[in-house]
Amino acid sequence: MDWDREWVERYHRKQTTTRTALARLQREYRIARGLLGELSPGALVLDAPCGIGPHTRRLREDGFRVLALDVNPWMLAYAQREAEPERCLQGDLQRLPLADQVVDAAIVIRIFHYLDQPAERRRVLAELARVVRGRVVISFMHPVAMAPLLKRRPTRKTQTLGEIRADAAACGLRVAKVRPVLPFVKRMWFAALEAAPATGG
Ligand SMILES: C[S@@+](CC[C@H](N)C(=O)[O-])C[C@H]1O[C@@H](n2cnc3c(N)ncnc32)[C@H](O)[C@@H]1O
Repeated sequence: MDWDREWVERYHRKQTTTRTALARLQREYRIARGLLGELSPGALVLDAPCGIGPHTRRLREDGFRVLALDVNPWMLAYAQREAEPERCLQGDLQRLPLADQVVDAAIVIRIFHYLDQPAERRRVLAELARVVRGRVVISFMHPVAMAPLLKRRPTRKTQTLGEIRADAAACGLRVAKVRPVLPFVKRMWFAALEAAPATGG
C-alpha cells in the first residue's frame, strides 16, 4: 500500500469526522475489548496494525499499556502524536520485530481482508502466536453479508469461519470465541484466538 502523509490525513478525516465513523470505531472497539477477556490493569497489548491509532487510544483509556505497530511511517507518526502509546514500532505483521512471548494480548483489526492468500494470513498468525502470551483478537470480512450488496460496493477479500479456523490451527492457535458485528448484514466479524492445547502423542 502506498499511503503517504496526504493520504493519511484524508484517511483520518474520513475515520473521525462523521458520527457514523465514530460509532463504527466505538462498536468495533467494544467487541474487540470483550473478546480480549480478562486482562490485568497495565497489561501490554499489541495494536497491529494501529493505523492512525483509534483503538490504541481506547486501550490506553481502559488502563492498558499499548505497543502500536504499523508498516506505514505516516500512520505511525499520527498514532504516536494522537494516541500516545507506550511504544510505537514500524514493522511488518509477517515479520514482527519483537521477541517471543513479550506481549499479553493483541488486537489485529482491518487487515485480514487485505490478505487473500492463506500463506500470508498464516505468516501473520504464526508471528502473533510467537509474540503473544494470551489472546489475539482479529477482524475479518465474512463472505455472506447483505450490506455490501445493498451499497453495491465491490466485495473485499473475504474469509469464512472455516478458513479462519484452518489458518489458526496451522499456527498452533484455536478460535475461542466469535462475534459478528451484525450477522449476515455487516461483513465484519471478530474472532478471539488463543493457543491450542497440545495434543498428547
Ligand atoms: C485499514 S487500516 C486499519 C488500522 C486500524 N487497525 C484501524 O482499525 O483503524 C490498515 C493498516 O494496515 C497497515 N498495514 C498494511 N500491511 C501491513 C503489514 N504487512 N504490516 C503492518 N501493517 C500493515 C497499513 O499501513 C494501515 O495502517
